[in-house]
Amino acid sequence: MLSAILYACLMLWGMWDFGPHPGNSFLPSDLNLTQTAQIFQDFMTRFNKIYWSQEEKDHRFKVFVENLKVICELQASELGTAQYGVTLFSDLAESEFEKIFGIPYPDQVPTLNQSGKPLKKHAKSCDWRKLGAITAVKKQGKCKSCWAFAAVSNIEALWNIHYHSPFNLSVQEVVDCVRCGDGCDGGYAWEAFQTVLNDSGLTEQEYYPYVGKPQQCRKDRGKPVAWIHDYEFLPRDEKYVAHVVASRGPVTAILNTKPLQHYQKGIIRRPSQECSPKRLDHVVLIVGYGEVKSRRGSWSGPYWIIQNSWGKTWGEQGYFRLHRGTNACGIAMYPVTAIVENTGTRSPGSCPP
Ligand SMILES: *[C@@H]1O[C@H](CO)[C@@H](O)[C@H](O)[C@H]1NC(C)=O
Ligand SMILES: *[C@@H]1O[C@H](CO)[C@@H](O)[C@H](O)[C@H]1NC(C)=O
Ligand SMILES: *[C@@H]1O[C@H](CO)[C@@H](O)[C@H](O)[C@H]1NC(C)=O
Ligand SMILES: *[C@@H]1O[C@H](CO)[C@@H](O)[C@H](O)[C@H]1NC(C)=O
Repeated sequence: MLSAILYACLMLWGMWDFGPHPGNSFLPSDLNLTQTAQIFQDFMTRFNKIYWSQEEKDHRFKVFVENLKVICELQASELGTAQYGVTLFSDLAESEFEKIFGIPYPDQVPTLNQSGKPLKKHAKSCDWRKLGAITAVKKQGKCKSCWAFAAVSNIEALWNIHYHSPFNLSVQEVVDCVRCGDGCDGGYAWEAFQTVLNDSGLTEQEYYPYVGKPQQCRKDRGKPVAWIHDYEFLPRDEKYVAHVVASRGPVTAILNTKPLQHYQKGIIRRPSQECSPKRLDHVVLIVGYGEVKSRRGSWSGPYWIIQNSWGKTWGEQGYFRLHRGTNACGIAMYPVTAIVENTGTRSPGSCPP
């Protein structure tokens, strides 16, 4: 079964030589070691991977080859247009990936409504990036701070939309000042918003730079430049969320990170049992949405545009797209946004289609 999928998948890549290689039992039977090693070498070069010992390198090579199988299986069962392949995370086993990036399933949160008030029809598409409202994609490193990045990007976007003031705000301040400063152990966007409310604003990244590990909370490093009035949990209703995205701005969400390790581009739609909304382990920022129209039997459907915090070399320049309207990977489970009231003299920006 696996072999058939692999064969089809690798044939598609057109880069493999097929034939048994009994001496290398960790290799899928239809792979040629020399060529696999070359692919691994290319991967190391492309993503600046350095392994400190030969054992480490050998181990990472085995994990990499295992991941090629995972990639082929993902591709074979994909229901959207997503393409999976070698990424900067291809040398990590799924369990390691989860250990580095995964946050625990949220508890002690309000029970969210299943639907919102009926709303006027929202625009067909919206992309806040086109207004320049979204700050550059960031890289969280080996700190479980996705929640802080998503929340800070949400606040930065709302400040851009309402006050036309571009700031790079301090994510490290949130990581250090949340609860007891254990911000690299994971968290949720609402904790970031609560921290910003508690601390009366956030300073700039320039004065309180990101270091990717917890430090002591320092409120004296720079004066606050952006504030929020409150934050709000939205209903688990993707039409409602789309309306909020279009009319107010980006929204943070939690999702199941499973298909993201090997994602390259396209619109992700997984078989529902493979991306359960009961495993929510990553926080991201929805910055827009759209819809692919059906053309000559090609894939069609609505999607979200989502900013990630794994740097620009991952995904679609740091972004990914996910099927919209089916609670794909749990994206509708915890939509939350900060509230920034417009007290300025200029009217807020509107979302470009
Ligand atoms: C692997 O395949 C390449 C290209 O087909 C070939 O040149 C090479 O000799 C093969 N290596 C081994 C170890 O079979
Ligand atoms: C659910 O909806 C009701 C009625 O609109 C509202 O009062 C309540 O605050 C909502 N709950 C949440 C958690 O948003
Ligand atoms: C924010 O950071 C980006 C990337 O580092 C930089 O290009 C941009 O000028 C910064 N914006 C402000 C307002 O400081
Ligand atoms: C905000 O302040 C309250 C009251 O001091 C505290 O109980 C809460 O833990 C703080 N929240 C965060 C996220 O730091």
